[in-house]
Amino acid sequence: MAVISLGGSVIAGKDIDVGYINDFKKFMDECEEKLYIVVGGGHIARKYIKAAQSLGRDQYTLDSIGIKATRLNAMLLMSSTTYPNIPESVDEAVEYAEIYKNVVMGGTEPGHTTDGVALLLAERLRESYVINVTSVGGVYDKDPRIYEDAKLIERMSYGDAIEIVASKKMDAGLNIPIDMLALKIAERSNIKIRIVGKDINEIKKVIMNDNFKGTTIG
Ligand code: UTP
Repeated sequence: MAVISLGGSVIAGKDIDVGYINDFKKFMDECEEKLYIVVGGGHIARKYIKAAQSLGRDQYTLDSIGIKATRLNAMLLMSSTTYPNIPESVDEAVEYAEIYKNVVMGGTEPGHTTDGVALLLAERLRESYVINVTSVGGVYDKDPRIYEDAKLIERMSYGDAIEIVASKKMDAGLNIPIDMLALKIAERSNIKIRIVGKDINEIKKVIMNDNFKGTTIG
């Protein structure tokens, strides 16, 4: 079994990466493990949230709009091995997984992100780790998209990650692509967060417990 938080921007940035979605679906269908995929909102979530914000909508409504975007992205990953509906809660996801091999979902309720959903799901399933698939592919000492000599940080404690996110030391170049709530859930249940890039081979390595290119928090 594996819980994967798939960043929205990995599949749906400004353009939807149909080729990658196809490869990812193939991986899901062929993987021997039961997969729980939680898909993020990506570009469409940001676009709609920004527009609704300009229209003066409240934060709860903005989150609800974001959740709809995550579910729209999740629908792109449906296949014959996934339950044909999008679960709207962690409990529903667990229920659906009893019937189908894989489950694909988006957000659940306002107040957190899909990383939070993935951690809650892992907690409910007593899983020891969550795979976080992001465009950047790990935590670096400075932005690897700008600096060629940026160094990958392979391991980080919950405490250090929480401190960095809390103090928003982003200007130091360190960017942890996980929100505070998700980190806190990971810490309280000792769930490791393994951050990787979009390369499906690296995701497979994490599942097979091999060395992978990325960062482990916890
Ligand atoms: P994401 O999980 O994609 O958030 O959900 P993010 O971290 O901003 O985006 P990535 O990781 O770069 O792709 C998009 C938005 O949907 C709402 C939040 O407003 C979130 O910012 N959301 C999502 C919820 O309110 N609850 C959820 O369970 C999930």
